[in-house]
Amino acid sequence: MGYQALYAASMADKAAFWAGQARQLAWKRFPDNILSQNDQGFTQWFADGELNMCELAVDVHVAAGRGQQAALIYDSPVAHSKMVITYSQLQQQVARLAGGLLGMGLAKGDSVVIYMPMIPEAVYSMLACARLGIIHSVVFGGFAPHELAIRIEDIQPKAILTASCGIEFEKVIPYKPLVDQAIRESAYKPAHVVVYQRPQLQVSVDHDHDLDWNDLLQHAEPAAPVPVPATHPLYVLYTSGTTGRPKGIVRDTGGYATALYFSMSAVYGMQAGDVFWAASDVGWVVGHSYMVYGPLLKGCTTVLYEGKPIKTPDAGAFWRVISEHRVKALFTAPTAIRAIKKEDPDGELLAGYDLTCLERLFLAGERCDPPTLHWAEHMLHIPVIDHWWQTESGWPMLGIMMGVEPLPVKAGSAGKPVCGYEVAILHDDGSPCQPHEEGLVAVKLPLPPGTLATLWNNDEGYRQSYLSQLPGYYLTGDGGYYDEDGYFYIMGRVDDVINVAGHRLSTGEMEEMVAGHPAVAECAVIGIADDLRGQRPIALVVLKDGQTIHEADLEDELVHLIREQIGAVAYFRNAGVVKRLPKTRSGKILRKTLRQMADGVPFKTPSTIDDPAILDEIKDRLRDRQLGNAFIELV
Ligand code: COA
Ligand code: AMP
Repeated sequence: MGYQALYAASMADKAAFWAGQARQLAWKRFPDNILSQNDQGFTQWFADGELNMCELAVDVHVAAGRGQQAALIYDSPVAHSKMVITYSQLQQQVARLAGGLLGMGLAKGDSVVIYMPMIPEAVYSMLACARLGIIHSVVFGGFAPHELAIRIEDIQPKAILTASCGIEFEKVIPYKPLVDQAIRESAYKPAHVVVYQRPQLQVSVDHDHDLDWNDLLQHAEPAAPVPVPATHPLYVLYTSGTTGRPKGIVRDTGGYATALYFSMSAVYGMQAGDVFWAASDVGWVVGHSYMVYGPLLKGCTTVLYEGKPIKTPDAGAFWRVISEHRVKALFTAPTAIRAIKKEDPDGELLAGYDLTCLERLFLAGERCDPPTLHWAEHMLHIPVIDHWWQTESGWPMLGIMMGVEPLPVKAGSAGKPVCGYEVAILHDDGSPCQPHEEGLVAVKLPLPPGTLATLWNNDEGYRQSYLSQLPGYYLTGDGGYYDEDGYFYIMGRVDDVINVAGHRLSTGEMEEMVAGHPAVAECAVIGIADDLRGQRPIALVVLKDGQTIHEADLEDELVHLIREQIGAVAYFRNAGVVKRLPKTRSGKILRKTLRQMADGVPFKTPSTIDDPAILDEIKDRLRDRQLGNAFIELV
């Protein structure tokens, strides 16, 4: 069946379509109730089904004779280590760790925070939680203690699983002090911290509160998978919203397993035994869906790469990993490709590697600019597919379904709706846009399986943020348009969220922090275009009356503040002092206009502006400071 027919089938009878996909999995109890609503009126899939995610991702493959196949290939140029873990070994590791968690008194329904670098133990931790029905919440290792503290307070984990250190290029980053600081900052205190000691750094553990990973495992008996209802939360993954409070995206079990299994073959064209590599981080949704659960559910081999696209040791790093592990499909962020292109524009480092195994490259996490897409196509001579999704959806919403029909790619477009998603471009009042008319990107309800169930402990927040603005639709927060051939173009966020090197961050949160500086009266933090990272944040700051702090000193202090509070990944490097900020007559800061000015994008002066003269002042400041492209003459 071609794309059009399969997509039409997924729309015509959603319950029948997804029941058919769900049958591919080994349920403990296959559901009778396929599509329903919970008492909040939120969509739920497979409500009366029962299954265990870890069993499907690990045990069923061992039982089916794949025990000797590589499940996980760990490749770490920074730790100078490589390891192949078969499905049998994965089962042993995970069952034993689950036994250790049981021994600590944890059980189904409890939660655990995982703050780990890209090591196999991070994957074991996620799967061990899933084995017992413990809800895991992985926090990206690049986040500073404050961000970790916010998440600990919200999810209230019984335990934190961590490692002694992460490694960034040559820099060893001790994790334990970061965890300790986060616990000090959090009003909620978890009962246990378990530390995996890496050879690069041994830390002392305080045996009253902390446990050494090896001690935990020493007396642990392997634990069997615990069946859970399909609607049981597998994990909560926090993602940036428009404020300082990140949103705890709740993912169910049965819908997610069904959607990931479907997407591995239908979107990515993968079959059991194939090697799939998502070059992301376990702390992001890509890590959850396509580094851990998706490939393992499908019986693929997944690559866990602890390194960078460049300088570990060079811009040929990705090509080495692909050729050495015979990777069939790579998934990465456009930033990674831009970084490689910058260091090795002519692809000289490709020459030494046999990349005949690589059949396709998938890009997501941020908009892929056509030159980057074309460069990758030119270098690799394979289809390069931009596809679009978000933490909330858990799996692709737009793309080219390579396993169904490899339709032509259009540069700049994130493809066509994936089965199950009725993607629409709407005006603010909910009326549909015409082709090429930019509007809000929304998805008609009900969302397909695998998408967010709600926000953790915040049903009302889910309704308010995503469902209430356009009744009957899920609002994605992105803006875009479609063309006459049904291809969609995602042009960027319409809210205070930015993507820096594929990392989703909140300018709203940064703004709250900058506004907290004693010299600052008010400020706007905006994302401006960055050649390598796609976007980066800058602040425009109005000083309090009588403040004499020098701009350079204030900038240093704010850079330090954001680094301390959010982490170096925010890549916040500049703050400029301005006399006033452009506002509407009702006092709302015109952030979009600021963004357009900084990026040198032609714009119309908003009719609601209080005082148009402010725009010239700001333009001069941006130009003086060489921030963005404001030096390009505006129309
Ligand atoms: N833990 C701790 N610190 C981290 C980190 C982590 N996991 N990830 C990044 N950082 C730090 C970096 O060390 C750097 O610190 P510094 O300011 O002290 O040098 C800072 O955050 C900024 O990092 P980044 O913007 O990533 O710059 P970089 O120069 O370290 O690397 C790239 C540039 C392009 C190589 C890198 O951004 C990259 O690999 N991008 C692809 C990202 C990606 O795949 N995202 C996918 C999400 S789906
Ligand atoms: P995250 O939740 O971290 O996956 O980030 C999701 C956001 O990243 C989306 O809402 C988009 O703004 C952006 N994004 C992801 N993939 C793409 C893409 N292919 N094209 C454009 N933007 C993208």
